[in-house]
Amino acid sequence: MLSKICGCAIFGIEATVITIEVHIGPGVGYHLVGLPDNAIRESNYRIAAALLNNGYRIPGKKVTINMAPADMRKEGSAYDLPIALGILISAGRFTPLKDLSGLILMGELSLDGGLLPVKGALPMAVKAKEEGYAALILPEENAEEAAVVEGLDVYGMKHFREVMDFLSGTSTPRPLKLEKEMLFRDQLEFPELDFSDVRGQESIKRCMEIAAAGGHNLILIGPPGSGKTMLAKRLPSILPPMSLRESLETTKIHSVAGKANSKGLIVQRPFRSPHHTISDVALVGGGSYPQPGEISLSHNGVLFLDELPEFKRAVLEVMRQPLEDREVTISRAKFTITYPSSFMLVASMNPSPGGYFNDGSSPVVNSPAEMQRYMNKISGPLLDRIDIHIEVNPVPFEELAKREKGEGSASIRERVCQARRLQEKRFMKLEKVHYNAQMSTRHIRSFCALDRASSALLKNAMDRLKLSARAYDRILKVARTIADLEGEPHVAAHHIAEAIQYRSLDREGWLG
Ligand SMILES: Nc1ncnc2c1ncn2[C@@H]1O[C@H](COP(=O)(O)OP(=O)(O)OP(=O)(O)O)[C@@H](O)[C@H]1O
Ligand SMILES: [Mg+2]
Repeated sequence: MLSKICGCAIFGIEATVITIEVHIGPGVGYHLVGLPDNAIRESNYRIAAALLNNGYRIPGKKVTINMAPADMRKEGSAYDLPIALGILISAGRFTPLKDLSGLILMGELSLDGGLLPVKGALPMAVKAKEEGYAALILPEENAEEAAVVEGLDVYGMKHFREVMDFLSGTSTPRPLKLEKEMLFRDQLEFPELDFSDVRGQESIKRCMEIAAAGGHNLILIGPPGSGKTMLAKRLPSILPPMSLRESLETTKIHSVAGKANSKGLIVQRPFRSPHHTISDVALVGGGSYPQPGEISLSHNGVLFLDELPEFKRAVLEVMRQPLEDREVTISRAKFTITYPSSFMLVASMNPSPGGYFNDGSSPVVNSPAEMQRYMNKISGPLLDRIDIHIEVNPVPFEELAKREKGEGSASIRERVCQARRLQEKRFMKLEKVHYNAQMSTRHIRSFCALDRASSALLKNAMDRLKLSARAYDRILKVARTIADLEGEPHVAAHHIAEAIQYRSLDREGWLG
C-alpha cells in the first residue's frame, strides 16, 4: 500500500513543500531515496525504536520511502514524524480519519516517541498558508512561532501518540492562537537598560540619538572604563519600535537558525554582541549546512562589536559586502541562498594599544609605529562604512557621584521616531531606502543639496582638517539626519558643522 504525507524543507529563509511517499511491498529492505542527508538516513533507527516503544514495529517487508521532488537535497532530522506515520499507514496499522492531503507534519522523534523541536517553523507555516494547506502539526516548542501566520491551524504536540489520537479523531485539540497585538504592546514596555542610568556624557548620548535616528553605523573610541559598552548596550532602548513586517523578517531568520523565542514573534530589535574570537562563518553565515550568521541574526537590530581591534582582520573583511548590500549570499556548488542582513553596526575600541588617548595625558605612551600597527588591525574598508566616529572620555568622579538622573530613553526615542517618520515620507517612493544611512551617492546628491554657505563650510573643513574624500558622503548623510531631528527640510551650515565633528578617525594626526 502507498501513503503520501506532506512535510517541508528549508532553503535560506524560505520553505518548500516536500511529499513523503511510503510504499511497502514484497521482499525485505529499507530504502530511503530523494537526496536525504545523513541525519535523515539515520531516521530509521530513531523511528524503529520510537514505534517499538509505542507498540508498533517497522514491517519485515520492503519499505521504500521517497522524498519528492527527488532532485532536491533534504537535510535534518525533522522528517521523522511524517516518515513514521507513513510507514504505519502503508503497513495498514493505522487509518487516519482526517484527510491528510491538507496537512503538513514535521518533527524529530526521540526514542520513546516524544516530539523534539525543528528549525524553520515560521517559514514552514508561511509556505503552508501560501499553498492552501489547512493545518500544520509541529512539536510543541515550535507551535508559537508558526502560529504567527493567520488563516492556518497550527497544532503543537508533545508525543507521537498525541498526533495519532488527533488524526484518528480520538482527541480534538484546539489550534493555537497567538495574540499578536499583545506581543507588540509588551514591546512598548520600558526596556531594562535605560539611558537615564548614564551620568553626564550628554554629547555621546546626542551622538547615539543621531545614529539611531538615521540608522547610522557608529564607533565609540575611548579608554577603559569610559562607559563605551554601557552606552552601546542602551542603544536598542532608543530605536523606533519594530513594524510587523520587520518583526516577521527577523523572526524568520531566528526560526531557521533554531533560535526563535518562546513567545513566537520577535518584537524587540535584536542586539547581538559576538565575542571577538568568532569565526567568519559564525559571523556572516554559511557552513556545510548553511545557517544564518550573527549579521543576519541582527537583521533590523544592532550588531555590537565590542573591542573591535581584537577581532581577526579577515573576519571583519567578510562583513564588507553584506554591510553594503544589506544581505549575504552563500554559494554552494548546487545552490545559493540569501539571508537578509540589514543591521546597525556599533563598534567600540580603545584609542591606542595602551588603552588611552595619545595626547600626553595618558600613563602609557605609544610610538607612532605601534599606533600604526594597532590601526592596521582594523579593516580600513570596514571603517569606511561607519558614518559616526566619536571619542568617549571618562566622566569625572563628581559627575558620577551626582544623584540626579540624565534624560531617559523614552523621550530620546520619541525624537528618534519623529525623525524616522520624516525619512519614511522622504523615501516613500524608493524601494530599498527607508532611512538616511541607506542613501546611495545619487540619493545624497538629491536629498542633501547644500546652499552656498554650507558648501563653503564643508569645503573649508575638509581642507583644514584634511578630511578624506570618503568622509564627504558620510558627513552629508549624518547632517541630513541632524536636520531631520530638528524637523528642518534643508541641510544648513550648523548641521554640517556638527556632522564634521563625528569624523574623529578621518582627521590627520589622529594617530598621534
Ligand atoms: N557615564 C557613566 N555613568 C554611570 N556609570 C558609568 C559611566 N561611565 C562608566 N560607568 C561605570 O563604569 C563601568 C565600566 O564602563 P564600561 O564597561 O561601559 O566601560 P568601557 O568603556 O566599555 O571599558 P573597556 O574599554 O574596559 O571595555 C560601567 O559598568 C558603569 O558602572
Ligand atoms: Mg567595554
